[in-house]
Amino acid sequence: MDHKIIVREKKETDNDQIKIILNKNFGENRYHRTVYLYRKKSPINSLSLVSCLNEDPNTVIGSITFFRTIVSNINCLLLGPLAVSDPYQGKGFGKILVRKGLEIAKLKNESICFVSGKYNYYKEFDFLKLSSKGFIISTLGNLTYSELLVKELKKDSINLLPLKSQLLPEK
Ligand SMILES: CC(C)(COP(=O)(O)OP(=O)(O)OC[C@H]1O[C@@H](n2cnc3c(N)ncnc32)[C@H](O)[C@@H]1OP(=O)(O)O)[C@@H](O)C(=O)NCCC(=O)NCCS
Repeated sequence: MDHKIIVREKKETDNDQIKIILNKNFGENRYHRTVYLYRKKSPINSLSLVSCLNEDPNTVIGSITFFRTIVSNINCLLLGPLAVSDPYQGKGFGKILVRKGLEIAKLKNESICFVSGKYNYYKEFDFLKLSSKGFIISTLGNLTYSELLVKELKKDSINLLPLKSQLLPEK
């Protein structure tokens, strides 16, 4: 049997499966979390991806989306939510989504991506702690449950960010 992991664009018919995965991982109350202040508009369609097994492409195992966020008038991306169905965690379904999402974002000429997540997970994709570059970027509410990380998708684009700014949702 072929256990290859595939990534494909999310379809409308995947929504119920994705909701179950997100509810299990983040709880049904997740909409009250600060990060949802940044998720009021729709996620970017071409960056809404799912990971599945090649042998069963209609069963969603992992899901990733990216939202538009604005920092100092620069259009940036905010990665998330990213989640994998618990029986399959730790088998690569998450990393392949992050890698593919960032690859597509680069092809679409995006310049900077933020994520509120664990540095130990995202460092492999060259996300940096804001503090390592001296950035102080305030957020709506308080994203204290994890750290805000940044990655440049275009060389030197990070230098466009002022040292002090605010992460804002898409208007
Ligand atoms: C975090 C998550 C998306 C990772 O996806 P996954 O398919 O389980 O993980 P992968 O197989 O892609 O990657 C496994 C690696 O990530 C590490 N990892 C998994 N979850 C992690 C976490 N929460 N923090 C740090 N590292 C983590 C594993 O130790 C493993 O490391 P290794 O490659 O050095 O052995 C998934 O475990 C999940 O849905 N967790 C619950 C929801 C969540 O925390 N989402 C992240 C929001 S930022």
